[in-house]
Amino acid sequence: MNSDQLASDYQTICPTSDLPVGKAKRIIVNQIPVALFHIEQGFFAIEDTCSHQGASLAFGTIDGFSVACPRHGAVFDIRTGTVLSLPALRGVKSYPVKIENNEIAIALAPISDNQPELLRL
Ligand code: FES
Repeated sequence: MNSDQLASDYQTICPTSDLPVGKAKRIIVNQIPVALFHIEQGFFAIEDTCSHQGASLAFGTIDGFSVACPRHGAVFDIRTGTVLSLPALRGVKSYPVKIENNEIAIALAPISDNQPELLRL
């Protein structure tokens, strides 16, 4: 997929004013659950299905650039989807986000599709 194809795959989600810093939103795009975050570093989108047992990360606890899963507390990097702590062993996908005319848009072609495992068993 080239960058022109990727650009055309962006879908507008909501105005930036709908998501203040420190907040998250669960959205469904093409039947895929996505957690959209606004943190100090900007807007980020990751797969909204915890790699441990499937809880929604959009309902987790945000701390800086990380989010703790609301079910068992695994921590993920909001910017990349990388897993940072147990009990999850794998990261989640992250998706490109862009801001255009004060609207948040995401593309479903993942930036990272195969996150490194926290532990190799
Ligand atoms: S479901 Fe997320 S840590 Fe268990």
